[in-house]
Amino acid sequence: MPAYSPGFRSLDAERDGLELAVEGEIPAWLSGSLVRNGPAMFEVGGRRVEHWFDGLAMLHKFRFADGDVVYSNRFLRTDAYRKAVEEGTLSNQFATSGGYLERLRSFVGKPTDNANVNVARLDGEYVALTETPRRVRFDPETLSARGDLAYEDDLAGHHVTAHLQHDREAGETVGYMTEFGRRNRYHVYGVPDDRPERVPLASVEVDRPAYLHSFALTPRHVVLVEPPYVVNPLRFLLPGGGGFVDHFEWRPERGTRFLVFDRSSGERVAEPRTNPFFFFHTVNAFESDDGVVVDLVAYDDAAIVDDLFMAAVEGGSGASRDAEPFPNAAEGVLARFRVPLDGGEVERRTTYRGLELPRVAPAARTRPYRYAYGQATGRRGGNGLAKVDVETGESREWWGEAKYAGEPIFVPDPETEGTSDEDRGVVLAPVLDVETERSMLLVLDGETFAERGRAHVPHHIPFGFHGEFFPEVTS
Ligand code: CO
Repeated sequence: MPAYSPGFRSLDAERDGLELAVEGEIPAWLSGSLVRNGPAMFEVGGRRVEHWFDGLAMLHKFRFADGDVVYSNRFLRTDAYRKAVEEGTLSNQFATSGGYLERLRSFVGKPTDNANVNVARLDGEYVALTETPRRVRFDPETLSARGDLAYEDDLAGHHVTAHLQHDREAGETVGYMTEFGRRNRYHVYGVPDDRPERVPLASVEVDRPAYLHSFALTPRHVVLVEPPYVVNPLRFLLPGGGGFVDHFEWRPERGTRFLVFDRSSGERVAEPRTNPFFFFHTVNAFESDDGVVVDLVAYDDAAIVDDLFMAAVEGGSGASRDAEPFPNAAEGVLARFRVPLDGGEVERRTTYRGLELPRVAPAARTRPYRYAYGQATGRRGGNGLAKVDVETGESREWWGEAKYAGEPIFVPDPETEGTSDEDRGVVLAPVLDVETERSMLLVLDGETFAERGRAHVPHHIPFGFHGEFFPEVTS
């Protein structure tokens, strides 16, 4: 068993309002709640799920007030959860096999609601997100699931992003989805802050849709970055095994395409192709003199998807690299792409090696900025945290013996509101100690990246994905 295996172990315990023991000092100004999402049950009906992305969703909440931290966690009680617990079955997942009819249903009418990827605030509601069109509302106080969020529109899509982007200035949340069928299309849409409706912004038809996880947003443009990891959708309908992602193929000869849309007209203004790379996460994007600048975490190819199958993370077959595949799976590289709108070539520059789960300060989104934060993956025997100067590539890092850190989230000191102090604040990240098999919430100083404090959780928290800090959630 690999040392990090507690990260893939199911968690049974659910807590409600547990005050955590704090070491060090957590700033008194930090007020509100960090809500994180991720899989926490990896066995269903006595069988292990096949891919990390297929465990059952659990929400974790860390509420901060006056230097104290109160922790709650709860499985998201969805249809998928009830079916898993009561009937011992799991269907329509990212990579876990279902039968032919199940898969057909999953794409036309019955997608899973196991929303284990991210959380967001949308139209005044708190929602848990995954890559099917189902968004699960939850009560931010109790973490109870409250059924699906319905949109008042008839936009059709089968695969969606769990990385919606809110644009405060424009007063809308932007997202996209992929429609599979006889015609395959990407649809970009905006949800106005004041009503639950997806307003279509742009659509583009494609022969082979790509697996898209996140996108880039600037004040004037939406950029869909399309790696050559593509599917012939008819394969979803063929009999035989395999979940959603098993049908995708790496076709490097297609290159990676940047589809740039004008946000006001919906017009496609450029679509340059460059050398093939794969990615899950954009970091940030902004306008430049001749186009857009897109920062993202790039991989040479889509082997990372295979690296995260349970068989691979548990040290069995399937790992694409070596004997300790996770976290030393394929290495994510923080790269900057200059995407011209005049028909010129895309330029690529590498900024930092060994990064995932990137974030930036909320005020830095969609504009020129200085710092990215992320999980550092460049060493063996642990995952650290990194703060990277995206201009110079200089970094500050945090590492701990046998410690596996997750996504770091920057929370600004409210006194910096409206100033240019991009990094004045704290960075919050979950960290699993695989020796003690306990997790903690680490609080780092945004400027120096030195530890300010840690709050100890009395159990392990399985490796999760994404979260959000909600300053308004104070109870
Ligand atoms: Co993600």
